[in-house]
Amino acid sequence: MSKDLDVLLKEERVFKPSKEFLEESNIAKWMKKHEIEDYESLLERTRKDPEWFWDEMAHDLEWFEDYDKILDWKPPHARWFLDGKFNIVYNALDRHIKNGRKNKLAYIWEGENGEVRKFTYFELYREVNRLSNALKKMGIEKGDRVSIYLPMIPELPIAMLACARIGAVHSVVFSGFSAKAFQDRSYDAQSKVAITVDGFHRRGKETKLKENLDTVLESIPSIEKVLVVKNTGSDLDLQEGRDFYWDDVLKDESPECTCEEMDSEDPLFILYTSGTTGKPKGVLHTHGGYAVGSSTTLKFVFDIKEEDIWWCAADIGWITGHSYIVYAPLLLGTTSMMFEVTPDYPDPGIFWKIIEKYGISIFYTAPTTIRMFMKFGELWPQKYDLSTLRILGSVGEPINPEAWMWYYQFIGNQECPVMDTWWQTETGMHIITPLPISNLKPGSAGKPFPTIEAEIKDDAGNVLLEEGGHLTIKTPWPAMFRTLYKEPERFVDAYWSKYPGIYLSGDVAHVDKEGYYWIQGREDDVLNVAGHRIGTAEVESALVSHNAVVESAVVGKPDPLKGEEISAFVILKQSFTADDELKNKLRSHVRSEIGPIASPSYINFVDDLPKTRSGKIMRRVIKAKVKGEDVGDTSTLANPESVDGLDKAI
Ligand code: WT7
Repeated sequence: MSKDLDVLLKEERVFKPSKEFLEESNIAKWMKKHEIEDYESLLERTRKDPEWFWDEMAHDLEWFEDYDKILDWKPPHARWFLDGKFNIVYNALDRHIKNGRKNKLAYIWEGENGEVRKFTYFELYREVNRLSNALKKMGIEKGDRVSIYLPMIPELPIAMLACARIGAVHSVVFSGFSAKAFQDRSYDAQSKVAITVDGFHRRGKETKLKENLDTVLESIPSIEKVLVVKNTGSDLDLQEGRDFYWDDVLKDESPECTCEEMDSEDPLFILYTSGTTGKPKGVLHTHGGYAVGSSTTLKFVFDIKEEDIWWCAADIGWITGHSYIVYAPLLLGTTSMMFEVTPDYPDPGIFWKIIEKYGISIFYTAPTTIRMFMKFGELWPQKYDLSTLRILGSVGEPINPEAWMWYYQFIGNQECPVMDTWWQTETGMHIITPLPISNLKPGSAGKPFPTIEAEIKDDAGNVLLEEGGHLTIKTPWPAMFRTLYKEPERFVDAYWSKYPGIYLSGDVAHVDKEGYYWIQGREDDVLNVAGHRIGTAEVESALVSHNAVVESAVVGKPDPLKGEEISAFVILKQSFTADDELKNKLRSHVRSEIGPIASPSYINFVDDLPKTRSGKIMRRVIKAKVKGEDVGDTSTLANPESVDGLDKAI
């Protein structure tokens, strides 16, 4: 970035925490115990002594052998809870079996066809043990990799836990990815076993996952055995000696299996994340630090209590699901909702129906989903009783103030704080996030979690206040990724070399006078208009704040005079007509919201925007179209047909 980023968006609304949260939340009680007066003192105290904080959190979990040292920090390498003997699965399952949660529900699962399956902690424990025993018989040993290619069915968390229990490293590949994506990731990880499914339904249509997998299995010679969950009951050709049905293999296995004693720093999983360029990065997380970081953030940010029913509506194929559907909720002994369904099938009321049916109390989703719900209107949530909700959450992209307000008003009935949590696959846990005791500003992710120090920097490394720049993290945190699998140099180059010893997130953001962080987008997407550097999120947010607009994406179109001109792609609400008059209105709306410099030169109305499977807009694809270039690799696109729509609009 040649020059700092302009800050255009001004959002003045502030929402204060309720008395109840100030007194009764987990974080409030913890503060009382330590005689910490308020939020600011909490941040100050924990930043002064982060090890004191994490040491206490780590001792909420059970160690086979206590650690000798809390942290060893030789940037960029951190080791947490050194020489501690630990297993995340022992803490997620066995501990509860002994301590009174044996018959508490761990998961309530509902499938697309309305089928319901429920697992108590004891039932989950027994299934996991059976699979652990089976994996051992298949030759899986501590440190071996297992690739998991499963949709959102209970066998997915069971498979992850069964691996971790015996010290194997799981690599989950999102079930919406192609077999080729599975091949690349499993080849890289040299996995010995693959766990998959005959098929699964999405919007009523079956995807035959095992059949797809068969097209690539020969190209992954490391895979010796394939375990297949019978889900849809489709006919399959199983290859003798290699492929086995899950039920056949598990039925004779013992429901008891010793839990492997791992070192705190032993690898737990690899999760491949595809950046904007290059081959996917194998982000590696460990047993000890990841367990402590993910469970602590869930406990304090979402205030999980014994009687809560928690619903994180992500897919387990992403880090959000790894951390906040599988590990952290189980570590806390929570009851979680697990749902197979897409938010608008069979109709856009399905999520609210689920909340009413199970009495969900805490709900966590992505801005792209919230904006989709806005498009369908508030009549849908209004049909259902959402009064059990007490906290809402958002993750994955900047949530524009408009969507924040809609969520707060129509889903939370102005009573539920919205936790806009900023974090990444690499961070493993929430990094910048409000707490139930902090003030909220719609569109801001709040401040760094206790103990963490972040900074906004310009290219030269100067710290910026009230100016946009690179979002960096200065201090280590327990759930940080330890390396990129088999690419230690890339780990250093990509994240730790621009500012030695300081973590570069790849996002641009600014911090306001009161220390609140406002994410402005990915640094690769920054617009450069007549010498002004503008984050995409601000222009998009200004567009969405117009009553006619549901969603938008902006990119730069090269211009010989200005450097770049802003080209906006806009999805309208159904009742509005796409015409030139509306284009002009939108331009003047942006002008008055954030200034003339950010007013888009081009406005293109579209029905759909190209998105990744996790709901992030792929501006790279739009940019290529605007420049008339080849769009490149689109294998991670959820909706390839949207690309034709772009062509028509330009
Ligand atoms: C990127 C990380 C971490 C869970 C899901 C995505 C964007 C994430 C927010 C937020 C603004 C956000 C960032 C980040 N992001 N949360 N609350 N506000 N942007 O994990 O796929 O690793 O993506 O998602 O750009 O760098 P991921």
